[in-house]
Order: sequence, then C-alpha cells, then structure tokens
Amino acid sequence: MTIADVAVIGGTGFYSFLDDPQEVAVETPYGDPSAPVAVGTVAGRRVAFLPRHGPHHEFPPHAIPFRANLWALRSLGVRQVLAPCAVGGLSDAVAPGDLVVPDQLVDRTFRRVPSYVETGAVHLPFADPYCPGVSAALASAAPDVKAGGAMVVIEGPRFSTRAESRHYAAEGWTLINMTGAPEAALAREQRLCYAALALVTDMDAGAESGEGVGQEEVFALFRANLDRLRGLLTTAIENLPDPAGCTCSTWADGIELSYDVPGEP
Ligand code: ADE
Repeated sequence: MTIADVAVIGGTGFYSFLDDPQEVAVETPYGDPSAPVAVGTVAGRRVAFLPRHGPHHEFPPHAIPFRANLWALRSLGVRQVLAPCAVGGLSDAVAPGDLVVPDQLVDRTFRRVPSYVETGAVHLPFADPYCPGVSAALASAAPDVKAGGAMVVIEGPRFSTRAESRHYAAEGWTLINMTGAPEAALAREQRLCYAALALVTDMDAGAESGEGVGQEEVFALFRANLDRLRGLLTTAIENLPDPAGCTCSTWADGIELSYDVPGEP
C-alpha cells in the first residue's frame, strides 16, 4: 500500500515540513530510522518527511541511520526523494544564502556503512548520482536556484582544516557537506529517484580568511532560510515528473539484488 510517494529528508535546522502530519513508526531490518516518519499532503501529493538528524538533532552526521532511513521511506511507497542539506561553499561561484542543486558527488566519508549489499555481485551504476527529473524540478522551482557543481561529503563531525578545504577547492569541487553520502547511493540502491538541494550556510575554511567555520553560523543561516526552502520544496513537489521508467529504478531490472527493496518482488 502506498502511504506516501514523495519524501523530503530534512537537514540541519529543518525538523518539520508538513502542516497536519500523521506520524508513522516504521520498523526496518536496519534498526530505527532517525525519527518516526511524518506523512501529510503537499500540493495534492502524499508526502513523507524525515528529519535526517532526528527531531532534536540527536544524530551527528557520522551516526545517522542512513540505511534505515531510506528503507523506511521506500517501505511507505516513496519513489521520489528531495534532500535539502546545509553546505559550505568552496568556490566564489557560490555565496552564503545560495540554493544549489549539485550534479556530482565526491564521497570522502570513511566510517559509514555505504551500501545495502552485503553479499554477491551488485555494483551500482552511479556516474550521475542524482535523479535528472527530481533535480530539474528543484532547479526550476525558483529563478535564483543554481544548478550544477560537485559536492564533496566529508566524514565530520568536525569542519575541515584550511589545507583540506583548499585541497577540495583546488579539485574544482563547489560545495562541501557531511550528510550527502552514503545517502544518495543508498537511495539509488533502493531504486529511488533522489536529488539534493544544498543551502550554502558558510564559506568553508579555505575559501575565507576569517576564523573558519562555526556551527552557529550554519544553524543561523539555515533558520533564516527555512520559509524560503519550504516554499521552494512545495513548488518542486508540484513540478515532479512521473518517476515511471526513470533509470534511477530501472538500473536494477534483471539484476538479482542481494538485499530487500520493499515493494519489489
Ligand atoms: N555543512 C555546512 N557547512 C559545512 C562546511 N563548511 N563543511 C562541511 N559541512 C558543512
């Protein structure tokens, strides 16, 4: 049964989205998700909301139950996921307050479970890590949304040193964050259409000459942009394409998956 077919995973500072939510507790083979999933209606669609860090920011980036979260959403019938997140800027192409839909991902995490695959040969095609349809709906939701750029995901929970940050910038990467991986890959393994919406909350240490990044500025900027973000997500949900036939799900056709994708035989 489909309880929701679209989901929003809220990032730092973003703990609620729906007006009249109904909470659904989901048990998963991977333990509890970050929170009970809230379900409600947005733009005529049944939408699930899950705060990635927990309702009270209990889970730091490296302790987020990513596998439980994506499995829980899929088990409710979700097919498309919009994933807002806080990011630092690495290049002068972006500035604090910018909203960016990245088109590439660099995974520099190293102590998270990166996959549902525990046995057998299942090698996820991941050259383009984000769903083109969901990315386009986000990018066209407001004229000031920027499209494109690579987001490097670090293990955290500390911010980068200036040397690390300058290195990432020199690689040509635009954004830096702590939660975009393995979330995007797990979403694809669950045959979900998934795209990120990055809110630039700060310029990372290598891109600015001041004190470096502090968590207060990240939280404050996110708080100041919550209404804008909610409006933009609502417009994007209105504009989502039909997910049927998208390569985010068809990649697994004919492949014997060694893990459970709820709703698939
Ligand atoms: N999230 C928000 N700002 C960040 C930064 N500068 N580095 C890593 N993750 C972040």
